[in-house]
Amino acid sequence: MSTQSIEVPRVTPPLAAARPTYLMCPPRLYDVAYVINPWMAGNLHASSRERAAAQWHRLHQALIEVADVEVIDPQPGSPDMVFTANAGLERNGIVVLSSFFHPERQAEEQHFRRWFHHAGYTVLDVPRETPFEGEGDALFSPDGSCLWAGYGPRTTRESHHLLARAWNIDVVPLHLIDPRFYHLDTCFAPLADGYVMYYPAAFDAASIARIEAFYPTEKRIIVAEADAVHFACNAINIGHTIILNDISRELTARLEAARFHVVPVTLSEFLKAGGAAKCLVMRLSQPAETTSYSN
Ligand code: ARG
Repeated sequence: MSTQSIEVPRVTPPLAAARPTYLMCPPRLYDVAYVINPWMAGNLHASSRERAAAQWHRLHQALIEVADVEVIDPQPGSPDMVFTANAGLERNGIVVLSSFFHPERQAEEQHFRRWFHHAGYTVLDVPRETPFEGEGDALFSPDGSCLWAGYGPRTTRESHHLLARAWNIDVVPLHLIDPRFYHLDTCFAPLADGYVMYYPAAFDAASIARIEAFYPTEKRIIVAEADAVHFACNAINIGHTIILNDISRELTARLEAARFHVVPVTLSEFLKAGGAAKCLVMRLSQPAETTSYSN
């Protein structure tokens, strides 16, 4: 029996491309200039701009092997702007702009707003009373069927309603309970082929139950504390490539057994501010989605 399928494009994003696109911000003005998470404590002004630049450059190099990269200029007074994952969350040409919990980062909002506006995105705002910290706390499942959204230290659970409405999508709330893992992308990474990599102790029991209800045991890649504190879960996954900070041989082997190609990039200078690979990029415009009809 022959089946004819018609590809019906849904919303076409303005920057749609065959390869995924990411937004990065060079670390020319990067600094640990205040303490808003446990990693920054004891690291005030302790990072080297030179080393940070070299590490960021290597991440950029690794990324452009498999993706396109857009760059936003850093701005004075916003030393954490390198962590573009916190600019907002984008899909189908709509950006829900972050409303930062800490005043220290709120100045970034205007810069990101301007960039998204110029790039042709529709920008949606989140009220100041219900903070939301972008892709740092909200991760689409690779098939786009649901949005995993963290809350607690930064993002409020109230802001999740706005995300659900923006994309008409199911939002699965995950409660973050360990101050070291204050953003969802520091302890949870949905991966290709239906895998997930996460650090369970960062979540409350109800959240773990939600993760386990979604992912069968053999698809769960559990990260031990020693790797979690090296930001192993803060991984960029593109197809079968995973770009992340240095991790243990055990975890590398586990990922390779799941047929991932692991690309380690040392990001020690950024760990001092509480971020690593995934924090330093923001995904732009998922490939245009298509729905197939058969007749
Ligand atoms: N110093 C930054 C902060 O505390 C680091 C942000 C890391 N970003 C992330 N997506 N986890 O806000």
